[in-house]
Amino acid sequence: MKRVLLVKGDLLLRVIVEKSAELAELRAASIVADLVRRNPQATLGLATGRTPTNVYRELVRMHCDSDLDFSQITTFNLDEYVGLGPKHPQSFRYFMQEHLFDHINIDAAKTFVPDGRALDFESHCRQYEQRIVDAGGIDLQFLGIGVDGHIAFNEPGSSLGSRTRLKTLSSETIGQNAKYFNGEPMPRLALTMGVGTILESQICLLLATGSHKASAIRSMIEGPVTAQITASALQLHREVIVIVDEKAGGWLERRDYYSEVEECTQLLESGQLRALGIGN
Ligand code: F6R
Repeated sequence: MKRVLLVKGDLLLRVIVEKSAELAELRAASIVADLVRRNPQATLGLATGRTPTNVYRELVRMHCDSDLDFSQITTFNLDEYVGLGPKHPQSFRYFMQEHLFDHINIDAAKTFVPDGRALDFESHCRQYEQRIVDAGGIDLQFLGIGVDGHIAFNEPGSSLGSRTRLKTLSSETIGQNAKYFNGEPMPRLALTMGVGTILESQICLLLATGSHKASAIRSMIEGPVTAQITASALQLHREVIVIVDEKAGGWLERRDYYSEVEECTQLLESGQLRALGIGN
């Protein structure tokens, strides 16, 4: 049966609504794993936080059970808290080691996270950007979204053309993340890839689960492109896949349409053309 592939480079904002958080996480993991299999030398952009935790667990399982090979993969993390070193349990470097890197066969020298202890922020951020360029750019950028619509730590009001830089965290973000610091004061600054940096990735894969993300997801997909919701800049990207569970997708007004697009995409990809009225 003839198989029709969507042309890479087509304008594409694909919204996939899964029934549960678990299914959404498995779907995201399978997209990352497919890329790693197709391109064993791929460069991945990675996120931290609650959202990707089970995705990394699934990737670790695939590595252990089905030899998913990370030996030639390069990774760049989105962000890091200023002031925290790699041994601090709340640092994003620590998170990545604990949830992914320590359990797969990745080359440690190819895993990059901004250095929270760098004192010359400007030159460190410039070097980080240069390293991404030297690696040939990011093939797939995995993203979460903040309740205020941020991607990475690009808080509301960030320039949509921004590059990796020092950023002051918003009170909403501090309110969301302070619980992880167990009463210890939380950093107020972060080093973060910019919106412009993220938009240069070949594919952006954004995952959101839980009803507390519903408003941000609707604004990002159905609202105007605005620096007040930095995730909305993804509307300008040429290949974005958004995976949500029913709760995070619960405020989407055009949800039925996204499901119809998804159904047609799957029929096209599996070559079931007659079901689409082609060649009848
Ligand atoms: C983390 C990051 C942030 C998070 C966002 C959601 O590296 O870049 O943008 O993705 O704050 O965090 P969780 O997943 O904890 O809700």
